[in-house]
Amino acid sequence: MTPARTTAVPRPAGSADDLLPTLPGSWYTDSRVFAREREHLFEALWICAVRAADLEGPGAFRTVQVGRESVLVVRDRDGGLGAFLNVCRHRGARLCTEESGTVRRTLRCPYHAWSYDLEGRLVAAPHFPRMPEAVRAGRGLVPVRLREWLGYVWLCLADEPPSFEDTVIAAVTERLGDPAAVERWDIERLALGRRVTYDVRANWKLLVENFMECYHCAVIHPELTGLLPEFAEGYAAQYFVGHGAAFARDARGFTVDGGAGFGRLPGLTAEQDRRYYAVTVRPQVFVNLVPDHVIWHRMFPVDADRTVVECDWLYAPEVPASGADLERSADLFHRVNTQDFAACERTQLSMGSRAYRTGGVLVPSEHHIGDFHRWVAARVPAPGDADAGTGPGAS
Ligand code: FES
Ligand code: FE
Repeated sequence: MTPARTTAVPRPAGSADDLLPTLPGSWYTDSRVFAREREHLFEALWICAVRAADLEGPGAFRTVQVGRESVLVVRDRDGGLGAFLNVCRHRGARLCTEESGTVRRTLRCPYHAWSYDLEGRLVAAPHFPRMPEAVRAGRGLVPVRLREWLGYVWLCLADEPPSFEDTVIAAVTERLGDPAAVERWDIERLALGRRVTYDVRANWKLLVENFMECYHCAVIHPELTGLLPEFAEGYAAQYFVGHGAAFARDARGFTVDGGAGFGRLPGLTAEQDRRYYAVTVRPQVFVNLVPDHVIWHRMFPVDADRTVVECDWLYAPEVPASGADLERSADLFHRVNTQDFAACERTQLSMGSRAYRTGGVLVPSEHHIGDFHRWVAARVPAPGDADAGTGPGAS
């Protein structure tokens, strides 16, 4: 079956129209732009926060940064998950400073020992036994909206969250061309084989842009291009609806040397075998789907020039349980990540240069990045001339 294309492959005609403008450099360096992005994107949209299976058993918690807020995700006594702003309702101390842990029964503030149950209710305030019930009831932890999908916990800080179906699920469907396609990987059932956290000295948008294009693939990804020969042509798999890049004829698996990987995941169709699919869920999730595993990236912007990426390699549960050596399998995308993030860091170095004040250009195989720039610019108020220079050149 010939995959449908999102747009016709641009055929460079050698005209000025072949080059489209990018965002200006200030959008990658200016802390005021970054603050607006946090508010209008990361605190307004659904954010993939933690892997649900990381919270094992009642009282297990993880803290995660969503926009400007620290959020606490907690497993309750019934096995459900709740999310709360990580802020004590007495005088505002951060409730949990650890990244993860397990409490026995309550979340206890280390300052004056107000305690909250696993559903966020205030259950004890020392030396104040007669706190009126109405007051106590109104001093519970502030809840955050939560959805579980594909084994991950998604959070939204907005008072009126956008439809999860119309945003997150629609993004995956739009890319894979079929709402059932991603279900065949049964990601919820997979087990964590490897996790690497990358601290990248680059603006989050550079990482998204890099993930969206493959113009760089032949230059910086020798292992990946060897395995997926069509990547050498410079068009990312994401460019086409439903298209997965075919493995090289002599590749036996998605591994660093093309050697055998593991068995095909049971739900996959023959058409999905020996192919690589990539999906971006804006603003912070990148997913790679291959026949025997899934590589799932969650990106957390820390500053205008710094982004933390947590990357999970997920396998059929019996693979890590058997003690199988995952090295050749996981090392392929670890190399790709390292190569990509080095390129992003190299680019970040120039974002403040006068040479990039009005930005750069997108060649035809990168034109879809312009959609991302327009998406950002439509949601993030442009800094006024008075406070941050030029507005987005891509709009
Ligand atoms: Fe938490 Fe006082 S600030 S108990
Ligand atoms: Fe890359």
